[in-house]
Amino acid sequence: MPEIPVFREEPVSFVRRSGRMSQAQDRAFEELAPRYLIDVQRGLASTSVHAEARMNPTLEYGRDARLFVEIGSGQGHAIISAASSRPDDDFLAIEVFRAGLARTMLDADKAGVRNLRLVEANAPEVLDSYLPEGAASEVWIFFPDPWHKTRHTKRRLVRTGFGDSAARALEDGGLLRLATDWEDYALQMREVLDGEPQFERAFEGEWAQRYDGRVMTAFERKGIAKGRDIRDLVYRRTPRA
Ligand SMILES: C[S@@+](CC[C@H](N)C(=O)[O-])C[C@H]1O[C@@H](n2cnc3c(N)ncnc32)[C@H](O)[C@@H]1O
Repeated sequence: MPEIPVFREEPVSFVRRSGRMSQAQDRAFEELAPRYLIDVQRGLASTSVHAEARMNPTLEYGRDARLFVEIGSGQGHAIISAASSRPDDDFLAIEVFRAGLARTMLDADKAGVRNLRLVEANAPEVLDSYLPEGAASEVWIFFPDPWHKTRHTKRRLVRTGFGDSAARALEDGGLLRLATDWEDYALQMREVLDGEPQFERAFEGEWAQRYDGRVMTAFERKGIAKGRDIRDLVYRRTPRA
């Protein structure tokens, strides 16, 4: 029997679809990737990060600045808006959806954004080893795929163990910001992070206020249209011992 290659032991929070790219999207990868997309050394899977690969933010951005990381940046609306309005900070978008990465590069180029880089990879691997420990001032996760069917919830990005990955990447006192329109995912996020000694709540009451640095995307609009409550959460990374 031939051995079946096992790429990862843990289920990933995405399904990669081999949709065709438009000409503009192909062009984005050809022309803009050298400026925006970090060429990551891979492990076995095409969206993996080689265990030895390390990002050097000073080299990537050509300076030392605070780093804001968005996981699952989709079309890039939130991170482009933040990067263009805060030129003194640096931004990293982590996404596996190629058409979204292409759109992000096209819009970033149009807006003249220079303080943004993209990584096409499975986000937990970027947090676990690719980013230098404590490199991120904030990590954002806005409207992660809900995986709402019971048999799929194990695929959720924010599940037991995710706190370790986020805590490694964040500096002491750094913030993890989350938003979702799925109530039971919001409850799961809160349960996972409340139980994580490396984080403390940075909000009072049941839920955090809407983060005003988060632009409205199609996912939030759809949730609202369906009558769902939008839940924001924000957690602070506790100081390392
Ligand atoms: C529902 S969309 C939300 C996109 C965006 N945050 C927004 O609000 O418009 C979730 C995105 O997360 C990406 N994603 C899911 N799991 C990921 C992972 N493990 N690493 C990187 N990106 C991931 C998906 O490809 C998808 O584009």
